[in-house]
Amino acid sequence: MKGKILGILAENSGLFQSGEKLSERLGVSRVSVWKHIKKLQQLGYQIDSSANGYQLISSPDALHPWEFPQRESKIHYYQEVNSTMTVAKDLARKECPHFTVVIAEEQLAGRGRLSRTWHSAGGGLYFTIVLRPKIPANLVSRYGFAASLVLARTMRDHFGIDAQVKWPNDILVNEKKLCGMLSEMEAVDEQVSFLNIGIGINVNNDPTHHEPNATSICALLGETVPRKKVLSIFLDAFENEISGESLDHVLAEWKKYAITLGREVTIVSTKDTFRGKAVDIDETGALMVELKDGTLEKVYYGDCFHQP
Ligand code: BTN
Repeated sequence: MKGKILGILAENSGLFQSGEKLSERLGVSRVSVWKHIKKLQQLGYQIDSSANGYQLISSPDALHPWEFPQRESKIHYYQEVNSTMTVAKDLARKECPHFTVVIAEEQLAGRGRLSRTWHSAGGGLYFTIVLRPKIPANLVSRYGFAASLVLARTMRDHFGIDAQVKWPNDILVNEKKLCGMLSEMEAVDEQVSFLNIGIGINVNNDPTHHEPNATSICALLGETVPRKKVLSIFLDAFENEISGESLDHVLAEWKKYAITLGREVTIVSTKDTFRGKAVDIDETGALMVELKDGTLEKVYYGDCFHQP
């Protein structure tokens, strides 16, 4: 209902809409309209009310489900959670539908790769998407590559940011980290039951307190940007990207934006550390590293450090 009220007020921007007209159009009582408007005002929507009705003056940059009308029923929005990964895993185990999205304004225990903390102060975008791809478990990494590819494209095409991808799924700009991704999956008999992709994007937050070598969209553009615009463009493009028959094309296109290939790298995983030249990725997304003795090592998981 709140989304519908906001939709009508936005359609008629600059004009007052009477409570009577709104209640007629929405098929609810005037008292109900008034209650929703009160709640929206409390949530930061600036709505003027007068004897002529209501007028929308401005909206906060909030990520409430009704801000995404086409996907409202599949968005779970929280002001604060420990980690959207934990909430998404619970929902996935309870059979939530494909492309359910869990969003939090702030995370108290945001998780990064290799058990690191992902600091999640207000102003950033923190969300996890639950996917149910009908594929064998060894191909899931393609979805992470698709997500980083689409995010790099979104930054380039819609925000004029020269984004590149670092293996496996980081987004960097001028070698500084703009976005990180974390995947978790469960499989039964080699078939994926769910794959959760968690994404943290530095938008209007300042990540440099904890990560000196990080950046944000706001720092790059010199102005704040609406997070709902970033999220809604990304979700639409990502859903479209993965809706086709196969993701065979993704790795080839990912390579076009890749900053890792051709570089001297150190790859650290929970078990090993490899040093060498990153020469390619294989069809599963594994990084092929040419070691000093000329042998090729395929690395499936780890954190990648580019040598200067
Ligand atoms: C990394 O680069 O180390 C991965 C960072 C992933 C952060 C996101 S924020 C949303 C989701 N919830 C989490 O706790 N982590 C991921």
